[in-house]
Amino acid sequence: MSHSEDKLLYLLYSKTRVNPIYYFMLLFSLSAQAGPVRGNGATDPSTYEAITGESADEEKAAWDSFYRSRESGFKNQPVGFLRDHLTMIPKGRAFIPAMGIGQNAIYLAKKGFLVEGVDISEVAIDTAHEAAKKQGVSIKASASDLDQFKYPTDRFDLIVVSQFYRDSLIPKFKAALKKGAYILFYEKRDTGKPQKQVSPDDFLVKSSDLKAALKDLDIRIFQEYRDHGTEVIGVLARKP
Ligand SMILES: C[S@@+](CC[C@H](N)C(=O)[O-])C[C@H]1O[C@@H](n2cnc3c(N)ncnc32)[C@H](O)[C@@H]1O
Repeated sequence: MSHSEDKLLYLLYSKTRVNPIYYFMLLFSLSAQAGPVRGNGATDPSTYEAITGESADEEKAAWDSFYRSRESGFKNQPVGFLRDHLTMIPKGRAFIPAMGIGQNAIYLAKKGFLVEGVDISEVAIDTAHEAAKKQGVSIKASASDLDQFKYPTDRFDLIVVSQFYRDSLIPKFKAALKKGAYILFYEKRDTGKPQKQVSPDDFLVKSSDLKAALKDLDIRIFQEYRDHGTEVIGVLARKP
């Protein structure tokens, strides 16, 4: 992807907060027109993977490209929902899946948590490590696909999931929490109405689905609100 396409992805993401994989797909499908077609008329499977985002390699490449084109200072603040409710959460070992460039991880490290993070993008992980070093804190972060990741059990006092959602991972997150530990979600809400997406967004969550996925936890806060024009859900729950 060219530098100008990278830049466009960044601009679109910063305006709409839509997962850049879909802009990547849009650029891809526009440049490929109908996409590579085989002799028998079937769409090439690799094109299908790029369009659905189902290949981890494609997903990693799209996010690496997105973070490479990121301008300094982009999203370096922790999410407000985490800041607002931190006093309810005892300090301990925190896990940040899909940590991005580490704004929540660094914030927690500054507040005295021992922080471990994972993201599929090596560029994001390197950026997070650099930022943590510059700010004088230490985080332990690694590049990995969360679908393939080997989750520990009973390890964390807090898990923070921000703008990343996969139903299939919720049981793994729960198992990784210690008894009495907290999990916090900050997610874009699927309102059921059309939003500014160019295609369905992996990371949109319906409130009812999130509630159902967490029904065996003790939900301390469940808030639906608008954050800078985006419908979001903030949840703080505790493993009984
Ligand atoms: C919308 S960003 C959110 C980043 C960060 N949590 C935040 O709130 O700013 C989604 C993140 O998920 C990561 N991601 C996407 N698919 C992933 C996967 N399969 N495994 C691990 N990380 C993934 C991306 O690299 C990206 O950093």
